[in-house]
Amino acid sequence: MSPLRESTLSVIGAGVMAEAIIAGLSEKHGIQVTADNVDAARRGDVVVLGIKPQVMPGVLSELRGSLAPGKLVISIIAGATTQTLRRGLDHGALVRVMPNTPAQIGQGVNIWYATSETTEAHREQARALLGALGHELQVGDERFVAMATAVSGTGPTYVFLVMEALIDSAVHLGFPRHLAHDLVLETIKGSVAFAERTQKHPAQLRDMVTSPGGTSAAAFYELERGRLRTVLADAVWAAYRRTMSLSDSLSAGKDPEPMPPRPNA
Ligand SMILES: NC(=O)c1ccc[n+]([C@@H]2O[C@H](COP(=O)([O-])OP(=O)(O)OC[C@H]3O[C@@H](n4cnc5c(N)ncnc54)[C@H](OP(=O)(O)O)[C@@H]3O)[C@@H](O)[C@H]2O)c1
Repeated sequence: MSPLRESTLSVIGAGVMAEAIIAGLSEKHGIQVTADNVDAARRGDVVVLGIKPQVMPGVLSELRGSLAPGKLVISIIAGATTQTLRRGLDHGALVRVMPNTPAQIGQGVNIWYATSETTEAHREQARALLGALGHELQVGDERFVAMATAVSGTGPTYVFLVMEALIDSAVHLGFPRHLAHDLVLETIKGSVAFAERTQKHPAQLRDMVTSPGGTSAAAFYELERGRLRTVLADAVWAAYRRTMSLSDSLSAGKDPEPMPPRPNA
């Protein structure tokens, strides 16, 4: 029996990600909508915070005092630490999650951290809810959730950009767009399945098809010359720095700082 079967789930901020959570819980839902956050929080055994960081301080002060000790609060707000949430809500049973957008089709990856005030029953509820969105990985160190923002949370956008660039290159070569699209998506899907099935390191899989003086070697030379690896590493670090600056602003109760183009640029 699902640990969520007897529970009422309240969602504060039912946007794109929260809708994925609601849709991911496979059975039929009796959904009630209210414009009153406090009313929603009072009714839920599990309260999901799906709001944007920018509106978080106002929502936390609104909810403060309306969460009975037995309730579990699950936050998907990027950059909001459990320390900031605990202080804002005056509530200790918290789960902080970094989801990603494939959750909308049940294929997301959700990395989560639970505070010491959560019970095993709370963690079972979190596991069941996040498992409905794809993979769920619990971590004992909250810093991994912040780091995951830059890897899996933002990750689909990196993949989509690479996908788009490859499709455009195929069109540039002369393929009709629909053929270019299918070729690229099937190549990416097949490569992921191949890596999963063989459990080989990506470099081994790459070497298997890199014949001396061949086409892959010629293409890799250009990718290395264009600094693909370091550009990706820089992008991941930039997203991480942004998460940490968002965390600092939220902790200090300030609006997030505008994003500088680059440190020391
Ligand atoms: N999208 C992602 O890939 C992703 C990945 C990981 C984590 N996250 C995190 O998930 C959270 C939600 O992102 P999202 O993309 O789902 O955003 P979203 O679609 O904009 O959803 C936010 C929702 O909050 C509602 N809202 C605004 N002010 C509110 C208030 N005072 N009280 C209650 N609800 C309020 C909005 O309603 P209105 O539209 O009517 O204003 C909207 O429905 C963010 O904190 C983000 O950091 C997102």
